[in-house]
Amino acid sequence: MNGSPDYDLEAVRNRIPLLGHRILLNACSHSPAAVPTRAAAEAYLDSWERRGMDWDRWMEAVELARDAFARLVGGQPEDVAVATSVSQATSSVASGLDWSGERRRVVVSGAEFPTVAHAWRAQVRFGAEIAPVPVRDGVVALEDYEAAIDERTLVVSACHGYYQTGFRQDVGAIARLAHSRGALLYVDAYQTLGTTPFDGPSSGADFVASGCLKYLMGIPGIAFLWVRPGLAHRLRPAITGWFGREEPFAFDAGRLDWAPGARRLDLGTPPILEAYVARAGIEWLLEVGLEAIGAWTRALGARLVEGGRERGLRLLGSSDPDRKAPSTAFACDDGHAVEIALRGRGILASARGPAIRLAPHFYSTLEEVDLGLDALAEVLEADPA
Ligand SMILES: Cc1ncc(COP(=O)(O)O)c(C=O)c1O
Repeated sequence: MNGSPDYDLEAVRNRIPLLGHRILLNACSHSPAAVPTRAAAEAYLDSWERRGMDWDRWMEAVELARDAFARLVGGQPEDVAVATSVSQATSSVASGLDWSGERRRVVVSGAEFPTVAHAWRAQVRFGAEIAPVPVRDGVVALEDYEAAIDERTLVVSACHGYYQTGFRQDVGAIARLAHSRGALLYVDAYQTLGTTPFDGPSSGADFVASGCLKYLMGIPGIAFLWVRPGLAHRLRPAITGWFGREEPFAFDAGRLDWAPGARRLDLGTPPILEAYVARAGIEWLLEVGLEAIGAWTRALGARLVEGGRERGLRLLGSSDPDRKAPSTAFACDDGHAVEIALRGRGILASARGPAIRLAPHFYSTLEEVDLGLDALAEVLEADPA
C-alpha cells in the first residue's frame, strides 16, 4: 500500500464532486455530498413526489438503514435502535437506567463530546452521581479510569475517539475495567466508525452510538445505537414514543409495553430521508471495505503526525497510530480564524477552540495531506500560535 490504498481511490474520488475543487480535511466535522448518497436522497424525494405517501417503502428504508448499521458494527438489526442524534440516543439510554440504587455513579471521561456528558448530568436530579475522568495532554489514561470505577459505578461513558485531539481510546481495556466492577460501558464512536473496522460484540462495549454526519458519509438527523444482546430489556427509557412499542401501529394509548431488543429505544416517526442517505453511505464504506479503509486512514494519520513534526507544528493528543483516529489536531491560538484562512485557500479543516483539526478520510490522498500541512504551516507562520 505505500502511496495508495488497497482499493480504487480514483473511483471513490470520482463519486465526490467537491474533491474537484476543494481539499477536504474536515471529515471529523462534516461529510461531503457524494453520488451514491445524493442518489439515495433523490430516491426519497422522487417517491415523495410521485406517491405522496409511501409508508411501507419508507419504513422498509429505515429497516435497511438499521440493518446496514448493524453490519457495520458486526451486530444484528434487532440490537440497533434508530435515533435522531447521539444526544437523543444517549439521553434515551440514560433515562432508561435506574439511578436510585447503590449503583448510581456514572464515570464520564473528559473526552466525551459535551452532549454526551450533558445527557448524564441531566440524570443528577434523579439520583445519578458524576465521577469525572480527566483529559491530560489531550489523552485519557487508563489508570484514571481505574481510579474512578468502583462498585458504585452503574455506567462508564468513554468515547472511542476524542473529538478534539483524535485520541483513540482502548475500548477493550476500559470495558475490562468496567465489567470487572459490574459496570456497563457506553461508547460514543462518532469519531471513529467508518474509518476502521469495529466489532461491537467483541469490543466489550455495552452500547455503541454514532451519528452519520462525519465518517459515515451521511447527513444530520439520524443516529444509531447498538445495544449488547440481552441488555436492552433492563432499560425502561423515560424518553420514549410509539415506535418503541411492541406494535406501534396498534395505536394503543392506554398501554406502555416495550418492543423487543433495542427497538424499545426507538422514539417517534423515524428520520426517513436521512435513513435513505445513511444506508447509502454505510453500504458504500462496507463495499470498499473497512479493513482497507482502516489501513489507508492510518497511513494518512501517520503522514499528518510526521508532516506536522517536520513543519514544526505542535501536535495535540497521541502520535501513536494505535491510539489515534484519522483526525489530527494541532495547537493554534484561534482555531476558528485558522479554519477561515485555510478555507480561503480551498482547504476545509475544522476548528475546536485552540485546536485546528485536519481529518482526511478514505477518499483523501497523501498529496492533499501534504498540501493541507503546508498551508497550515504558512497560516500559522503568518499569525503564530
Ligand atoms: C464524538 C461526537 N459525539 C457526538 C457529537 C454530536 O452528536 P449529535 O449532534 O448527534 O447529538 C459529535 C459532533 O457533532 C461528536 O464529534
